[in-house]
Amino acid sequence: MSLILSEGTYTLSNDGIYQDVPGEIVRPPSTASVVPESPVWLITGGGRGVTADCAIELAKRTGGSFILLGRSDLVAWPAWLERETDLKALRGALAKNSGRADAPKTPVEIDRFARILLAGAEIVSTLKAIESGGAKARYVQADIGDQASLRTTLSRLINEEGPVTGLVHGAGVLSDGFAEALGLKNFEKVFSPKVTGLETILSCIKPSALRYIGLFSSASAVFGNEGQSNYAAANEWLNNVAVHLAGKIPDTQVKAFCWGPWQGGMVDESLARMFTERGIGLISKQEGARIFADQLLNSSHDQVRFVVGDEWGSA
Ligand SMILES: NC(=O)c1ccc[n+]([C@@H]2O[C@H](COP(=O)([O-])OP(=O)(O)OC[C@H]3O[C@@H](n4cnc5c(N)ncnc54)[C@H](OP(=O)(O)O)[C@@H]3O)[C@@H](O)[C@H]2O)c1
Repeated sequence: MSLILSEGTYTLSNDGIYQDVPGEIVRPPSTASVVPESPVWLITGGGRGVTADCAIELAKRTGGSFILLGRSDLVAWPAWLERETDLKALRGALAKNSGRADAPKTPVEIDRFARILLAGAEIVSTLKAIESGGAKARYVQADIGDQASLRTTLSRLINEEGPVTGLVHGAGVLSDGFAEALGLKNFEKVFSPKVTGLETILSCIKPSALRYIGLFSSASAVFGNEGQSNYAAANEWLNNVAVHLAGKIPDTQVKAFCWGPWQGGMVDESLARMFTERGIGLISKQEGARIFADQLLNSSHDQVRFVVGDEWGSA
Protein backbone atom coordinates (compact mmCIF):
# COMPACT_ATOMS: atom_id res chain seq x y z
CA MET A 1 0.00 0.00 0.00
CA SER A 2 1.47 3.40 -0.83
CA LEU A 3 0.75 6.88 0.38
CA ILE A 4 1.53 9.42 -2.28
CA LEU A 5 2.12 13.06 -1.51
CA SER A 6 2.74 15.79 -4.01
CA GLU A 7 6.18 16.22 -2.40
CA GLY A 8 7.17 12.57 -2.94
CA THR A 9 6.16 9.00 -2.34
CA TYR A 10 5.67 7.52 1.07
CA THR A 11 5.36 3.82 1.64
CA LEU A 12 3.09 2.62 4.37
CA SER A 13 4.34 -0.30 6.38
CA ASN A 14 3.04 -1.86 9.55
CA ASP A 15 4.83 0.49 11.89
CA GLY A 16 4.64 3.82 10.15
CA ILE A 17 5.30 5.85 7.03
CA TYR A 18 8.66 5.93 5.37
CA GLN A 19 9.71 8.48 2.82
CA ASP A 20 11.14 6.90 -0.29
CA VAL A 21 14.48 8.44 -1.15
CA PRO A 22 16.49 6.74 -3.90
CA GLY A 23 18.99 4.38 -2.30
CA GLU A 24 17.98 5.32 1.20
CA ILE A 25 14.95 5.10 3.45
CA VAL A 26 14.48 8.04 5.76
CA ARG A 27 12.01 7.86 8.58
CA PRO A 28 10.30 11.21 9.17
CA PRO A 29 10.53 12.35 12.79
CA SER A 30 7.62 10.98 14.74
CA THR A 31 5.75 13.38 16.96
CA ALA A 32 4.18 11.84 20.00
CA SER A 33 0.75 13.47 20.02
CA VAL A 34 -0.69 13.86 23.46
CA VAL A 35 -4.40 13.15 23.41
CA PRO A 36 -6.33 15.45 25.77
CA GLU A 37 -7.58 13.70 28.90
CA SER A 38 -11.24 13.92 27.90
CA PRO A 39 -11.26 14.66 24.18
CA VAL A 40 -14.44 15.96 22.58
CA TRP A 41 -14.66 14.73 18.99
CA LEU A 42 -17.02 16.32 16.48
CA ILE A 43 -17.45 13.92 13.56
CA THR A 44 -19.48 14.96 10.54
CA GLY A 45 -20.98 11.97 8.76
CA GLY A 46 -19.77 9.83 11.67
CA GLY A 47 -22.96 7.86 12.19
CA ARG A 48 -22.68 5.89 8.97
CA GLY A 49 -20.33 4.75 6.24
CA VAL A 50 -16.58 4.63 6.46
CA THR A 51 -16.37 7.65 8.79
CA ALA A 52 -18.29 5.58 11.35
CA ASP A 53 -15.62 2.85 11.14
CA CYS A 54 -12.95 5.47 11.80
CA ALA A 55 -14.93 7.00 14.68
CA ILE A 56 -15.22 3.57 16.33
CA GLU A 57 -11.45 3.04 16.01
CA LEU A 58 -10.75 6.51 17.45
CA ALA A 59 -13.06 5.79 20.39
CA LYS A 60 -11.12 2.62 21.20
CA ARG A 61 -7.88 4.57 21.26
CA THR A 62 -8.80 7.87 22.90
CA GLY A 63 -12.11 7.46 24.73
CA GLY A 64 -13.87 10.77 25.48
CA SER A 65 -17.05 12.18 23.97
CA PHE A 66 -18.15 11.65 20.41
CA ILE A 67 -20.69 13.89 18.68
CA LEU A 68 -21.79 12.42 15.36
CA LEU A 69 -23.60 14.63 12.84
CA GLY A 70 -25.76 13.45 9.95
CA ARG A 71 -29.03 14.26 8.20
CA SER A 72 -30.68 10.88 8.79
CA ASP A 73 -33.50 10.59 11.25
CA LEU A 74 -33.41 7.87 13.90
CA VAL A 75 -36.70 6.18 13.03
CA ALA A 76 -37.67 3.35 15.37
CA TRP A 77 -37.81 -0.09 13.77
CA PRO A 78 -41.50 -1.08 13.50
CA ALA A 79 -42.40 -3.90 15.92
CA TRP A 80 -44.18 -5.77 13.10
CA LEU A 81 -41.14 -5.84 10.82
CA GLU A 82 -38.45 -8.51 10.95
CA ARG A 83 -34.87 -7.25 11.37
CA GLU A 84 -32.96 -7.22 8.08
CA THR A 85 -29.58 -5.67 7.32
CA ASP A 86 -29.72 -6.06 3.55
CA LEU A 87 -31.63 -3.52 1.43
CA LYS A 88 -33.12 -6.11 -0.93
CA ALA A 89 -34.25 -8.38 1.89
CA LEU A 90 -35.73 -5.43 3.78
CA ARG A 91 -37.64 -4.23 0.71
CA GLY A 92 -39.06 -7.77 0.42
CA ALA A 93 -40.08 -7.81 4.08
CA LEU A 94 -41.77 -4.40 3.73
CA ALA A 95 -43.56 -5.48 0.55
CA LYS A 96 -44.96 -8.51 2.42
CA ASN A 97 -46.40 -6.10 5.01
CA SER A 98 -47.71 -3.47 2.58
CA GLY A 99 -51.30 -4.40 3.45
CA ARG A 100 -50.88 -2.86 6.89
CA ALA A 101 -52.37 0.62 7.31
CA ASP A 102 -49.08 2.06 8.67
CA ALA A 103 -46.78 0.37 6.11
CA PRO A 104 -45.39 1.89 2.88
CA LYS A 105 -47.25 0.73 -0.23
CA THR A 106 -45.58 1.63 -3.53
CA PRO A 107 -42.10 0.40 -4.56
CA VAL A 108 -40.81 3.99 -4.27
CA GLU A 109 -42.23 4.37 -0.73
CA ILE A 110 -40.91 0.94 0.23
CA ASP A 111 -37.41 1.70 -1.04
CA ARG A 112 -37.37 5.08 0.73
CA PHE A 113 -38.56 3.65 4.03
CA ALA A 114 -36.13 0.72 3.82
CA ARG A 115 -33.20 3.13 3.37
CA ILE A 116 -34.38 5.28 6.30
CA LEU A 117 -34.62 2.20 8.54
CA LEU A 118 -31.19 0.90 7.51
CA ALA A 119 -29.58 4.31 8.04
CA GLY A 120 -31.10 4.55 11.53
CA ALA A 121 -30.02 1.01 12.40
CA GLU A 122 -26.46 1.72 11.23
CA ILE A 123 -26.27 4.86 13.38
CA VAL A 124 -27.56 2.98 16.45
CA SER A 125 -24.97 0.27 15.87
CA THR A 126 -22.18 2.90 15.55
CA LEU A 127 -23.24 4.53 18.83
CA LYS A 128 -23.22 1.14 20.57
CA ALA A 129 -19.78 0.27 19.17
CA ILE A 130 -18.31 3.59 20.35
CA GLU A 131 -19.86 3.20 23.80
CA SER A 132 -18.77 -0.42 24.14
CA GLY A 133 -15.20 0.78 24.78
CA GLY A 134 -16.28 3.25 27.48
CA ALA A 135 -16.48 6.42 25.36
CA LYS A 136 -19.60 8.60 25.30
CA ALA A 137 -21.49 8.94 22.04
CA ARG A 138 -24.43 10.95 20.82
CA TYR A 139 -25.96 11.38 17.40
CA VAL A 140 -27.30 14.78 16.39
CA GLN A 141 -29.43 15.21 13.30
CA ALA A 142 -28.04 18.12 11.28
CA ASP A 143 -27.62 19.05 7.65
CA ILE A 144 -24.16 20.57 7.74
CA GLY A 145 -24.79 22.41 4.48
CA ASP A 146 -27.46 24.49 6.22
CA GLN A 147 -25.33 27.26 7.69
CA ALA A 148 -27.87 28.94 9.97
CA SER A 149 -29.16 25.80 11.65
CA LEU A 150 -25.66 24.29 11.91
CA ARG A 151 -24.44 27.40 13.75
CA THR A 152 -27.29 27.09 16.27
CA THR A 153 -26.72 23.35 16.68
CA LEU A 154 -22.97 23.74 17.20
CA SER A 155 -23.36 26.49 19.75
CA ARG A 156 -25.77 24.30 21.74
CA LEU A 157 -23.47 21.27 21.48
CA ILE A 158 -20.39 23.18 22.59
CA ASN A 159 -22.34 24.49 25.58
CA GLU A 160 -23.38 20.98 26.53
CA GLU A 161 -20.17 19.05 25.78
CA GLY A 162 -17.43 21.64 26.21
CA PRO A 163 -14.93 22.82 23.59
CA VAL A 164 -14.36 20.51 20.65
CA THR A 165 -10.76 19.23 20.66
CA GLY A 166 -10.89 17.02 17.57
CA LEU A 167 -12.73 17.51 14.28
CA VAL A 168 -13.25 14.76 11.74
CA HIS A 169 -15.00 15.93 8.59
CA GLY A 170 -16.38 12.89 6.78
CA ALA A 171 -19.72 14.12 5.44
CA GLY A 172 -19.95 13.88 1.70
CA VAL A 173 -22.22 12.94 -1.18
CA LEU A 174 -21.76 12.13 -4.84
CA SER A 175 -23.56 13.74 -7.77
CA ASP A 176 -21.70 12.26 -10.72
CA GLY A 177 -22.05 13.10 -14.39
CA PHE A 178 -19.94 14.06 -17.39
CA ALA A 179 -18.58 17.60 -17.04
CA GLU A 180 -20.64 18.99 -19.92
CA ALA A 181 -23.85 17.66 -18.34
CA LEU A 182 -23.12 18.81 -14.78
CA GLY A 183 -25.09 21.85 -13.72
CA LEU A 184 -24.75 24.20 -10.80
CA LYS A 185 -27.09 21.96 -8.79
CA ASN A 186 -24.69 19.00 -9.08
CA PHE A 187 -21.84 21.19 -7.85
CA GLU A 188 -23.90 22.66 -5.02
CA LYS A 189 -25.00 19.21 -3.92
CA VAL A 190 -21.41 18.01 -3.56
CA PHE A 191 -19.92 21.28 -2.28
CA SER A 192 -22.64 21.82 0.33
CA PRO A 193 -21.51 19.22 2.90
CA LYS A 194 -17.80 19.18 2.00
CA VAL A 195 -17.12 22.89 1.57
CA THR A 196 -19.96 24.92 3.12
CA GLY A 197 -20.16 22.44 6.01
CA LEU A 198 -16.47 22.75 6.87
CA GLU A 199 -16.44 26.53 6.44
CA THR A 200 -19.35 26.88 8.85
CA ILE A 201 -17.76 24.56 11.41
CA LEU A 202 -14.46 26.41 11.25
CA SER A 203 -16.29 29.68 11.77
CA CYS A 204 -17.94 28.30 14.94
CA ILE A 205 -14.92 26.55 16.45
CA LYS A 206 -11.62 28.34 16.73
CA PRO A 207 -9.26 26.07 14.71
CA SER A 208 -6.46 26.83 17.20
CA ALA A 209 -8.58 25.18 19.94
CA LEU A 210 -8.49 21.93 17.97
CA ARG A 211 -5.76 19.38 18.62
CA TYR A 212 -6.73 17.21 15.63
CA ILE A 213 -8.35 17.90 12.28
CA GLY A 214 -8.97 14.95 9.94
CA LEU A 215 -10.57 15.69 6.56
CA PHE A 216 -12.02 12.94 4.37
CA SER A 217 -10.86 13.76 0.87
CA SER A 218 -10.60 11.46 -2.12
CA ALA A 219 -7.99 10.05 -4.47
CA SER A 220 -10.13 11.45 -7.27
CA ALA A 221 -8.90 14.91 -6.24
CA VAL A 222 -5.37 13.77 -7.08
CA PHE A 223 -5.82 11.43 -10.06
CA GLY A 224 -9.18 12.66 -11.41
CA ASN A 225 -12.04 10.26 -12.07
CA GLU A 226 -14.51 9.97 -14.93
CA GLY A 227 -17.78 11.74 -14.11
CA GLN A 228 -16.48 13.26 -10.88
CA SER A 229 -15.18 16.73 -11.74
CA ASN A 230 -17.42 18.31 -9.07
CA TYR A 231 -16.42 15.75 -6.44
CA ALA A 232 -12.71 16.01 -7.35
CA ALA A 233 -12.87 19.81 -7.07
CA ALA A 234 -14.61 19.76 -3.68
CA ASN A 235 -12.06 17.29 -2.33
CA GLU A 236 -9.11 19.27 -3.72
CA TRP A 237 -10.56 22.26 -1.89
CA LEU A 238 -10.38 20.18 1.32
CA ASN A 239 -6.74 19.31 0.55
CA ASN A 240 -5.89 22.99 0.17
CA VAL A 241 -7.71 23.92 3.36
CA ALA A 242 -5.69 21.25 5.18
CA VAL A 243 -2.41 22.70 3.93
CA HIS A 244 -3.55 26.21 4.82
CA LEU A 245 -4.61 25.19 8.35
CA ALA A 246 -1.43 23.18 8.94
CA GLY A 247 0.61 26.30 8.17
CA LYS A 248 -1.57 28.51 10.34
CA ILE A 249 -1.82 26.24 13.38
CA PRO A 250 1.32 24.06 13.36
CA ASP A 251 0.64 22.61 16.82
CA THR A 252 -2.58 21.04 15.56
CA GLN A 253 -2.38 17.72 13.78
CA VAL A 254 -4.04 18.36 10.38
CA LYS A 255 -4.51 15.56 7.87
CA ALA A 256 -6.37 15.32 4.57
CA PHE A 257 -6.89 11.65 3.72
CA CYS A 258 -7.22 11.27 -0.06
CA TRP A 259 -8.88 7.89 0.20
CA GLY A 260 -8.89 5.38 -2.60
CA PRO A 261 -12.03 3.21 -2.72
CA TRP A 262 -13.06 1.42 0.45
CA GLN A 263 -15.00 -1.82 0.75
CA GLY A 264 -18.10 0.00 1.95
CA GLY A 265 -19.72 3.38 2.37
CA MET A 266 -20.52 5.05 -0.95
CA VAL A 267 -18.71 2.27 -2.85
CA ASP A 268 -21.60 -0.03 -3.65
CA GLU A 269 -21.30 -3.41 -5.38
CA SER A 270 -21.20 -1.99 -8.91
CA LEU A 271 -18.57 0.65 -8.06
CA ALA A 272 -16.50 -1.97 -6.24
CA ARG A 273 -16.62 -4.16 -9.37
CA MET A 274 -15.61 -1.21 -11.56
CA PHE A 275 -12.57 -0.41 -9.39
CA THR A 276 -11.55 -4.07 -9.18
CA GLU A 277 -11.78 -4.41 -12.97
CA ARG A 278 -9.47 -1.40 -13.27
CA GLY A 279 -6.99 -3.14 -10.98
CA ILE A 280 -7.55 -0.69 -8.12
CA GLY A 281 -7.56 -2.42 -4.75
CA LEU A 282 -10.26 -1.74 -2.17
CA ILE A 283 -9.38 -0.62 1.34
CA SER A 284 -10.90 -2.93 3.94
CA LYS A 285 -12.85 -1.22 6.73
CA GLN A 286 -10.51 -2.57 9.38
CA GLU A 287 -7.36 -1.48 7.56
CA GLY A 288 -8.78 1.93 6.63
CA ALA A 289 -9.84 2.65 10.19
CA ARG A 290 -6.43 1.59 11.50
CA ILE A 291 -4.59 3.79 8.99
CA PHE A 292 -6.88 6.69 9.85
CA ALA A 293 -6.29 6.50 13.59
CA ASP A 294 -2.54 5.83 13.24
CA GLN A 295 -2.06 8.81 10.95
CA LEU A 296 -4.28 11.21 12.85
CA LEU A 297 -3.02 10.36 16.32
CA ASN A 298 0.56 9.26 15.88
CA SER A 299 2.16 10.53 12.70
CA SER A 300 4.37 13.50 12.06
CA HIS A 301 2.65 16.86 11.59
CA ASP A 302 4.49 17.56 8.35
CA GLN A 303 2.57 14.95 6.31
CA VAL A 304 -0.61 16.86 5.70
CA ARG A 305 -2.33 15.39 2.64
CA PHE A 306 -1.75 11.98 1.22
CA VAL A 307 -3.35 9.31 -0.90
CA VAL A 308 -4.22 6.07 0.82
CA GLY A 309 -4.59 3.27 -1.70
CA ASP A 310 -3.51 2.49 -5.24
CA GLU A 311 -2.57 5.07 -7.81
CA TRP A 312 -4.79 5.22 -10.88
CA GLY A 313 -4.84 7.01 -14.22
CA SER A 314 -7.89 9.12 -15.04
CA ALA A 315 -10.10 6.35 -16.47
N1 LIG B 1 -16.07 5.08 0.61
C1 LIG B 1 -15.03 5.41 -0.12
O1 LIG B 1 -14.46 4.58 -0.83
C2 LIG B 1 -14.49 6.81 -0.12
C3 LIG B 1 -13.40 7.11 -0.95
C4 LIG B 1 -12.91 8.39 -0.97
C5 LIG B 1 -13.43 9.35 -0.15
N2 LIG B 1 -14.49 9.04 0.65
C6 LIG B 1 -15.05 10.11 1.49
O2 LIG B 1 -15.30 9.61 2.78
C7 LIG B 1 -16.46 10.24 3.32
C8 LIG B 1 -17.46 9.18 3.78
O3 LIG B 1 -17.87 8.45 2.64
P1 LIG B 1 -18.70 7.09 2.71
O4 LIG B 1 -18.18 6.21 1.66
O5 LIG B 1 -18.76 6.61 4.09
O6 LIG B 1 -20.12 7.61 2.20
P2 LIG B 1 -21.56 7.32 2.77
O7 LIG B 1 -21.70 5.93 3.23
O8 LIG B 1 -22.47 7.82 1.70
O9 LIG B 1 -21.63 8.27 4.02
C9 LIG B 1 -21.65 9.66 3.89
C10 LIG B 1 -21.85 10.26 5.26
O10 LIG B 1 -21.96 11.69 5.12
C11 LIG B 1 -23.15 12.12 5.79
N3 LIG B 1 -23.64 13.32 5.11
C12 LIG B 1 -23.80 13.53 3.80
N4 LIG B 1 -24.29 14.76 3.58
C13 LIG B 1 -24.44 15.35 4.79
C14 LIG B 1 -24.92 16.60 5.22
N5 LIG B 1 -25.33 17.54 4.35
N6 LIG B 1 -24.96 16.86 6.54
C15 LIG B 1 -24.55 15.93 7.44
N7 LIG B 1 -24.08 14.71 7.08
C16 LIG B 1 -24.04 14.43 5.78
C17 LIG B 1 -24.10 10.93 5.66
O11 LIG B 1 -25.10 10.93 6.64
P3 LIG B 1 -26.62 11.28 6.25
O12 LIG B 1 -26.92 10.63 4.95
O13 LIG B 1 -27.38 10.72 7.41
O14 LIG B 1 -26.66 12.75 6.18
C18 LIG B 1 -23.14 9.77 5.91
O15 LIG B 1 -22.93 9.60 7.28
C19 LIG B 1 -17.00 11.15 2.23
O16 LIG B 1 -16.59 12.46 2.47
C20 LIG B 1 -16.37 10.62 0.97
O17 LIG B 1 -16.19 11.64 0.00
C21 LIG B 1 -15.03 7.81 0.69
